Amino acid sequence: MISGMRPLEPSERAAFAVMAQAMNAPVIALDAQARVLVANSQAQALMPALRENVLLAMVLRAPDVIDAIACVAGGAEAQQVAWSERFPHELLFDVRVAPANLSGALVIVLSFLDLSEPRRLERMRSDFIANASHELRTPLASLLGFVETLQGPARDDPAAHAQFLPIMADQARRMSRLIDDLLSLSRIEQTQHVRPSARVDMADILRRAMDELSPLAQEERAVVTINAPQNAWVVGDPDELIRVVENLIENAIKYGAKPGGSAHVTIDLALGDHDVELSVQDEGPGIEPEHLPRLTERFYRADAKSSRAKGGTGLGLAIVKHIVVRHSGRLVIESEPGLGTKFAVRIPKNKSGA
Ligand SMILES: Nc1ncnc2c1ncn2[C@@H]1O[C@H](COP(=O)(O)OP(=O)(O)OP(=O)(O)O)[C@@H](O)[C@H]1O
Ligand SMILES: [Mg+2]
Repeated sequence: MISGMRPLEPSERAAFAVMAQAMNAPVIALDAQARVLVANSQAQALMPALRENVLLAMVLRAPDVIDAIACVAGGAEAQQVAWSERFPHELLFDVRVAPANLSGALVIVLSFLDLSEPRRLERMRSDFIANASHELRTPLASLLGFVETLQGPARDDPAAHAQFLPIMADQARRMSRLIDDLLSLSRIEQTQHVRPSARVDMADILRRAMDELSPLAQEERAVVTINAPQNAWVVGDPDELIRVVENLIENAIKYGAKPGGSAHVTIDLALGDHDVELSVQDEGPGIEPEHLPRLTERFYRADAKSSRAKGGTGLGLAIVKHIVVRHSGRLVIESEPGLGTKFAVRIPKNKSGA
């Protein structure tokens, strides 16, 4: 501890408090004994037990920060240390501990730079790359295996050709679909903050989506009931809205089948005061509640085996969510295990065309 330091005058302390309050990060000022002189409201929010005159070590359990304060109190230069917490939330701060010598009074100033969000984004980015690579590697490995077999032992075996080539085509289509989905996700992300402005009829979008999906519905013997008005005008991007509707109906047909049977899907298009609501309801096995909040994450599948077997990439609902957000709309998912699932999308109405 540096001896011969004078204590801070009350007016100096008040000036510090005013300045700290003006900063847009948590800031704490300590005296040379590491007692709290000033803490701005952001620091208080971060450490609710923070009080004037309390020893910081009693409030902040961060040994590296406390050591840095001791060094600075002993005359060292400013230091930069990391402080991380796992509970109750994951936090990561870069803490700067700097001496401020105010004509003979030592004040130790702590400022906190929040790195939690950049770290979370960084982790999301690397998870995303790992997931995308994994999804591509699986069909690629299978394709390479078949190519080797066809070049080697099955070179002159027409039966093997007839058996393997359709599987190879399937795997290649799967990879190509995955890449298309990744590209559209990134395109939608790039335009996320630009509201679409075209006048779009959701009833027409629904008819077009059903035309597109009728072969799948027939193949899966799905029974689809539609309740829709003639027109339902919204403001939107027609290509994106058709993707939303197709994704939801396709999921209901693929995952909404009753055990041992086919899917019964009810689609309702309803005009509200301010928006148009499209809901797609099935009577299938439903989704366990723990999966619901994560369904719109990229590559997340409630039942990975059944989704992969059906050629799903787990990107459909991530695309739906992004499109709905871009339209300032809402996506609500309700599911009762054993009874079925309902996906409802609300898109703001086009007032002039209503
Ligand atoms: N109607 C539904 N009933 C039960 N589970 C569903 C339903 N809709 C979606 N799911 C679950 O949610 C998961 C995520 O759906 P999503 O549309 O994002 O991906 P996917 O259908 O597997 O792949 P993709 O849409 O890219 O073909 C699915 O894998 C499935 O497990
Ligand atoms: Mg899907």
